[in-house]
Amino acid sequence: MTDALVIFTPSGKRGRVPIGTPVLTAARQLGVDLDSVCGGRGICSKCQITPGYGDFPKHGVTVAEGALSEWNAVEARYDEKRGLKAGRRLGCQATVQGDIVIDVPPESQVHKQVVRKAADAREIVMDPATRLLYVEVEEPDMHEPTGDFERVRTALRDQWQIEGVDIALPVLTRLQTALRKGKWAVTLALHKDHKDPATRIIDIWPGYYEGRLYGLAIDLGSTTIAAHLTDLRNGQVAASAGLMNPQIRFGEDLMSRVSYAMMNPGGDAEMTAAVRTAIGQLAADLAKEAGIEERQIVEAVFVCNPVMHHLLLGIDPVELGQAPFALATSGSLSLAAPDLDLESVNPGARIYILPCIAGHVGADAAAVALAEEPDKSEDLVLVVDVGTNAEILLGDKRGVLACSSPTGPAFEGAQISSGQRAAPGAIERVEIDPVTKEPRFRVIGCDLWSDDPDFETRTAATGITGICGSGIIEAVAELRLAGLMDQGGLLGSAAQTGTPRMVPEGRTHAYLLHDGSADGGPVITVTQGDIRAIQLAKSALYAGARLLMDEIGTDTVDRVVLAGAFGAHISPKHAMVLGMIPDAPIHKVTSAGNAAGTGARMALCNIADRARIEETVGRIQKIETAVEPCFQEHFVAANAIPHATAPFSELRSAVEIPQVAFNAGEAGAEGGRRRRRRG
Ligand code: FES
Repeated sequence: MTDALVIFTPSGKRGRVPIGTPVLTAARQLGVDLDSVCGGRGICSKCQITPGYGDFPKHGVTVAEGALSEWNAVEARYDEKRGLKAGRRLGCQATVQGDIVIDVPPESQVHKQVVRKAADAREIVMDPATRLLYVEVEEPDMHEPTGDFERVRTALRDQWQIEGVDIALPVLTRLQTALRKGKWAVTLALHKDHKDPATRIIDIWPGYYEGRLYGLAIDLGSTTIAAHLTDLRNGQVAASAGLMNPQIRFGEDLMSRVSYAMMNPGGDAEMTAAVRTAIGQLAADLAKEAGIEERQIVEAVFVCNPVMHHLLLGIDPVELGQAPFALATSGSLSLAAPDLDLESVNPGARIYILPCIAGHVGADAAAVALAEEPDKSEDLVLVVDVGTNAEILLGDKRGVLACSSPTGPAFEGAQISSGQRAAPGAIERVEIDPVTKEPRFRVIGCDLWSDDPDFETRTAATGITGICGSGIIEAVAELRLAGLMDQGGLLGSAAQTGTPRMVPEGRTHAYLLHDGSADGGPVITVTQGDIRAIQLAKSALYAGARLLMDEIGTDTVDRVVLAGAFGAHISPKHAMVLGMIPDAPIHKVTSAGNAAGTGARMALCNIADRARIEETVGRIQKIETAVEPCFQEHFVAANAIPHATAPFSELRSAVEIPQVAFNAGEAGAEGGRRRRRRG
């Protein structure tokens, strides 16, 4: 026998190779995804495989003992030093001696599939822009004078078939030392994005570098900045952190930040510096938490709305504050860390910023489109990313429309009398008994309801501190369901509603949710002002969605996906009672978690996803809410809870919404007329 059959699992790829071929070589010849950083020198152990022996009827082959070569000295040394798992071999050392079935375990696959989230089992295929490669470089020779870098290029060409390599000056300055220290062997961090003509060397280590490379997936929001430190080998998140966007001190929402830049010379530069410093701090915190060197962070991917995008880049956002809302650029950007003064990462780190969709619809919406794929949906899906600005996508595989709507920070707990950020101690779930009108609630950090006997002890450490965004949505919706608030959003008095929980507040009323004053805690109420703030926010959201529905001529959608760090926590029922979203079967309203963050992570882990979103964004039709005359009309009708004119038939078939009406003029009057009839 001069050749043998090799079958690789799980790919099922098979073919004949000459006896004596190393498994790694066989894998490459047959197009099998088997990893290697050291190029088959028995150093990196990334090429581990598991041979199978015995009968394989499925593959029509019987594998005899001895189908692979005996353990060699390299494997024995590796096993002694680091330990190989039982049954494993190094694919670059073991050679084929007979017909064989070889399993490539997930950790040895270059393009590993990583389950993105358990709920929908969608996967990210690993194919990052930056990877580590080990090369052995020729020593200099006086008789054939060439530069050290030129010999590195030759080594990459001969050992890895990589041509046209560039090197950044900071790496070049360290090249000679690294080569000599590594005895003419070095590990290189090489970066090549989907659009780059050349491969760049962004870092160098003497000899074989054991460490791993990481990237940051950053969702830069108007209110919060969230970052995930992601392992570029397997896509796993090593650490996550978030902090308030320090630009808040220049203005709570986007337009107030644009005005700050307009009114204050140099205001844009101040905001740029503030956000860049915060991102550097976040990178430092994440590296520390994960126990890695900052130098190991070699990439960052950003998703953000257009104003954040411009301020991050150091571009004055003034054009985004006025029609026709022209972006400096809507395309994706590939930059170097020093371009953004990004500290606490590798100085050679590369940055990718997703493309923006339009002047008001940013790279965050593009990231949501990448993660949720409305363009591949069979049924008509509305994807809403709820934040200070709501990004709204509507469509199916025939086409997708997008807009952004200025909801303001109320959904994030700001502008609410007892509002706070989602943090331990914040009320996040609320129920009000429709008969007794008594509330019960849950706070972040404790899974018990407040009427549980152990609730007080379990929340002693955090206390009950305020209401976060999902809590206020539930509270307002529950007030409506309990008949304590009418369709116009007006709260009734104690006399009108029959509960002492309705307490006077100026000329209006508030609902007493929790009174912690006896123990020095806060008195938490939902006031008429809170309800007005939520009405404005939800009307903007609904009107944006409605505008897109008008555009395709539909009154209903098949399903709704609530996305955003906060969207993940909204209860579908309460979102619909409030009329945040159009009518849809309640079981077809789902949460997608932080879709923008997921989109950023996908673009970080797979360069084909970058190309895919750039192409998709080009096909998304943009609708500009600010100049659409119908927006105002929809906004006004959406002020009612759930809505003044839309039927909400799916919702009404699932829950009973009491038909109550309170008269503002009588709200404070004792014994005010109470009209109540069941709907
Ligand atoms: S390829 Fe590196 S040990 Fe086999």
